[in-house]
Amino acid sequence: MKAILTGLGGQGLSWLGDIRRRDDVEIVAFVEPFEASISRAVEKHGVPREAIFPSLDEAIKNVQADFVLDVTPPAVHHEVAFKAFDAGLHVLGEKPLSDNFQIAKDVVLAGQKAGVKHMITQNYRFGDQPRTTRKVLDEGLIGQPGQADIRFYMPWADNPGSHYVTQPFMLINDMMIHHFDLLRYVLNQDPETVQAITWNQPWGWHAGDAAHAIVFKYPSGLVATHVALACDNGHQTTYNGDWHIAGPLGSLDWQKDGTFYWHQHRTDNPVVNQRVEHLPVPPQRTAMVDEFFAAIRENREPECSAQDNLKSLAMVFGAIQSSKEGRVVQLSEV
Ligand SMILES: NC(=O)c1ccc[n+]([C@@H]2O[C@H](COP(=O)([O-])OP(=O)(O)OC[C@H]3O[C@@H](n4cnc5c(N)ncnc54)[C@H](O)[C@@H]3O)[C@@H](O)[C@H]2O)c1
Repeated sequence: MKAILTGLGGQGLSWLGDIRRRDDVEIVAFVEPFEASISRAVEKHGVPREAIFPSLDEAIKNVQADFVLDVTPPAVHHEVAFKAFDAGLHVLGEKPLSDNFQIAKDVVLAGQKAGVKHMITQNYRFGDQPRTTRKVLDEGLIGQPGQADIRFYMPWADNPGSHYVTQPFMLINDMMIHHFDLLRYVLNQDPETVQAITWNQPWGWHAGDAAHAIVFKYPSGLVATHVALACDNGHQTTYNGDWHIAGPLGSLDWQKDGTFYWHQHRTDNPVVNQRVEHLPVPPQRTAMVDEFFAAIRENREPECSAQDNLKSLAMVFGAIQSSKEGRVVQLSEV
């Protein structure tokens, strides 16, 4: 497969390393408008200067490709997608699908109309902890989950001038999309309502709110809470966060060093902090690119298709709307 890589920022260069390790993909062109990013890619990462184009239009005119790997900032994703679709190219796009929900819906429709595959790189759900948790929940280890509580404490995204620190609600839009997508994957159900309050700490470095308490309610009766502080200078969780998923037969807990099963009360066989061995899974990007290529080959929707991703994105924009309007938001109204 031949790819055009758009965006040679931090994440684009990181993708470049992974793609170079595969023997079934060749990057035939790069797109990057900013000289500082171009020089770094050329000087430090061996990208040939002549293969870098200032726009996707130029790249498409000059090379034959099968797909675009889009690693531009969120506000640019729709431009890249529309141009790729016009040229009949599949798109493997970095999350979030867009920083605007209406535009995200338009992009999904355009991709469907063009008859191409459009997958969003929700890499977190391909990790061993979520894959294992989904499996043991499906097997009924703790019964039907009734509550999931997630905590995320990190000094997240502190690069001055980047979209992470200059734009509103980036913690929810750019980072929590991973956790909300994880919730959908791990619990295998979608919420109905969201209620969020968001705020900032006086010592924080984000222009947009970087702390929140969010409650999702599900048609099954399940309640999920999400609490985060993205300018935490103290104790840190992992990027997955600490999770406590409770059901009638105990709990599953995500901690820094693994996943643990507890069943202490109302049982004849108490279980305390029993490690749940993680399934062996491929590296997240390997799994995502494999899935993307398989969907193209088999002409089916990939896991994390852009269309499916709208449900994760609705949780993001529902939470932002709830915070702005100070009320419970039905996800169907987003
Ligand atoms: N999946 C993950 O875990 C993960 C982690 C980090 C970043 N990301 C995502 O990756 C994307 C990029 O993030 P980043 O940290 O590399 O940002 P960045 O700002 O470091 O890099 C973005 C690059 O895109 C370039 N760019 C801007 N407009 C462009 C255009 N029209 N065409 C081509 N290039 C253009 C910029 O000049 C910059 O070099 C974001 O969507 C971000 O959310 C995902």
